[in-house]
Amino acid sequence: MDNDVAIQVVNLTKYYGELLAVDHISFTVRRRELFGFLGPNGAGKTTTVRMLTGVIKADEGGASILGYRAGSLKAKQVAGVVPEIANAYADLSGWNNLMLMSELYGIPASEARQRGASLLQDMGLFPRKNDAVKAYSKGMKQRLILCMALVSDPEVLFLDEPTSGLDVQSARLIKDLLQGLNAKGKTIFLTTHDMDEANQLCDRVAIINKGRIVAIDAPEKLRMATSATHSVEVSFDNVVSPEVLVNIPGVNTVKKLGDKYRLYTANPGELVVSLVNYSSSHGLKVISLNILEPSLEDAFVALTEKEAKHG
Ligand SMILES: Nc1ncnc2c1ncn2[C@@H]1O[C@H](COP(=O)(O)OP(=O)(O)O)[C@@H](O)[C@H]1O
Ligand SMILES: [Mg+2]
Repeated sequence: MDNDVAIQVVNLTKYYGELLAVDHISFTVRRRELFGFLGPNGAGKTTTVRMLTGVIKADEGGASILGYRAGSLKAKQVAGVVPEIANAYADLSGWNNLMLMSELYGIPASEARQRGASLLQDMGLFPRKNDAVKAYSKGMKQRLILCMALVSDPEVLFLDEPTSGLDVQSARLIKDLLQGLNAKGKTIFLTTHDMDEANQLCDRVAIINKGRIVAIDAPEKLRMATSATHSVEVSFDNVVSPEVLVNIPGVNTVKKLGDKYRLYTANPGELVVSLVNYSSSHGLKVISLNILEPSLEDAFVALTEKEAKHG
């Protein structure tokens, strides 16, 4: 086994009846990586996490976690999971949920109590630890579930949209904790539909759409790779029609935004020169001119649309 590999996925596939929910995907997550699995609703993120954590079986292909077959007892022991749907018992207190989870993992009681208390402190839940989970807010519940995933001190952590629908403060706490864990050397596999979150947190991001991986790279590189989504935002002192603008050399598409135009181009530098030439030869004045870097959202849309056209 390659010691630098945390998660190895080969040809992983899942059908629900006729629906191909995860379509022969392959990728590698290195140790100590904070890896993002980014895609819209229905892309296949949860199905993938469930196969990686042994909740459901793959129809084809497979995966290993730290060299152990996904779904095996060993693989489960080295991993912590924050599933999409809360797995805490509502009638038990936060503390008792944590202790129950520790027992399932066979953690000695004194160690469980110590780590449990420290995790609850970190997540701002310690004062509420004896309250039943049904009295927790959504954000508190999610923070507890993160504590439960961490009580076994796992090497690899899987989180399925852990901040989705949470209040800002809970989301912040969770993101800070993930960065802290990653800094301490934990491998983190995080699914999200939130571009900004992936951008802020992840070393690398796989973009998944309709069960297929359409790109894997560092967020910054994904942004730059979608060169057609560079754009120049311009406004003139007089009305110029989009039909005219689209004929300026280097312009791919034109979008009107209030009194401005956004011109998409592969080469923003050259386009700026063309625009200045155009306006001076047509007696126009440029009021504002900005070169815009593509956002990860632009990259996401470009990559998933490209996939839709091909598939
Ligand atoms: N248990 C299931 N039975 C049938 N179809 C399912 C089931 N779970 C998910 N799907 C379908 O599989 C696809 C992928 O779903 P999912 O993995 O939950 O996506 P994501 O987590 O990215 O939103 C979707 O089209 C979804 O409707
Ligand atoms: Mg999901």
